[in-house]
Amino acid sequence: GFAQSSIKVIKAGRVIDTENGSVLDGRMILIANDTIKEIGKNIKIPDKAEVIDLSNATVLPGLIDCHTHITFQSGDNYYERFRKSIVDYAILAPSYAKNTLEAGFTSVRDVGSSNFLDVALKKAINSNKIPGPRMQTATYFISSTGGHGDLNGFSPMLDSREPIEMSGIANGVDEVRQKVRYLVKYGADVIKFGASAGVLSEEESVGAPQYTQEEMNAIVAEAKMWGRKSCAHAHGAEAIKMAIKAGVASIEHGSLIDDEGIALMIKNGTYLVADVYNDDYIIEEFLKLGYPQKIIDKEKIVGLKQRQNFRKALQAGVKIAYGTDAGVYPHGGNGKQFSHMVRWGMTTMQAIQSATINAADLMGWKTKTGSIAVGKYADIIAVVGNPIDEIKLLENVQFVMKGGQVFKNSIKK
Ligand code: ARG
Repeated sequence: GFAQSSIKVIKAGRVIDTENGSVLDGRMILIANDTIKEIGKNIKIPDKAEVIDLSNATVLPGLIDCHTHITFQSGDNYYERFRKSIVDYAILAPSYAKNTLEAGFTSVRDVGSSNFLDVALKKAINSNKIPGPRMQTATYFISSTGGHGDLNGFSPMLDSREPIEMSGIANGVDEVRQKVRYLVKYGADVIKFGASAGVLSEEESVGAPQYTQEEMNAIVAEAKMWGRKSCAHAHGAEAIKMAIKAGVASIEHGSLIDDEGIALMIKNGTYLVADVYNDDYIIEEFLKLGYPQKIIDKEKIVGLKQRQNFRKALQAGVKIAYGTDAGVYPHGGNGKQFSHMVRWGMTTMQAIQSATINAADLMGWKTKTGSIAVGKYADIIAVVGNPIDEIKLLENVQFVMKGGQVFKNSIKK
């Protein structure tokens, strides 16, 4: 807490320089309050400074997950969702935030929540009432009627479950614009919409578009007017291209992207945020949780293709930011995606950059985080050993500092 001295010096065995893609040996980092003040081989330790010895560890900037759902977590039976109120979710959300932070993820872009629970969580974290990552919040996922963000597969008698305002459902250019305004009014930092069908929802297709080009254009233009970037949930090739043309900052999932889509992403500088760990967890767990067979069947259509297309997009030069869809699998396992990204073509440095400097760039937070640099937040993590040689070390982050405050330190010296 704030009883800790406000001047700290970290002695780092080595530092990963995410801006230059290099590894620096033996650095000292001077931190005052929440900010990095000085980095050097030999800096003078101020009298009142607290020295943190990480000389046997590799020090990295705090990790960033650009695709989380930090206010909920699957793990119950599929039908449990009908027995829960927002209060049930609200009670557990702080534990998810804590697990995320302790996994070394000091920032997240949270891309879908209900009842503005994400905004409440962000406020509690930012006022230091509870531990958690810095958050960018999307609030409701904007979806067409019958789309990925609607509740599908059940009787129409269940349909009027919420007042329409308190949901992400919107149809037509006027309604989607109104929806963006409503979400921005109540705390959306970023706008997320469903460009295509999804896996973990009961509509039949996994890739078909769910908004017209005009609707997607309207969402992105309206968000831009309010100073917000947009991102699109999109598995299908056509929907991916429509969302890129509308001007989204990132494509989420991107599973069935084709060559034309890849070329468009490069041309427009669109980021790909592909949750390439998720397939393992869904195939392993979701049948046991009572998810309908048709959902598992859809996962089998996209899982492998998503990974192959991730490699293809990477090799073509598409910009990639780290995003895992945490909440589908338990929060705190966010680091499990690194090894998959390496298996599907990234160097370990590229994988680390995707979760630091690239992620910060996508979020518009490059001046605040994403690298260990003077003037940025002291969001700093460490592991014993070298993750450049052994990427799986990032599944067990041992030291976590956010804004100069130490939230975890299991590195014994
Ligand atoms: N939320 C996503 C959806 O339901 C999860 C997709 C998971 N599968 C995958 N291969 N990434 O569409």
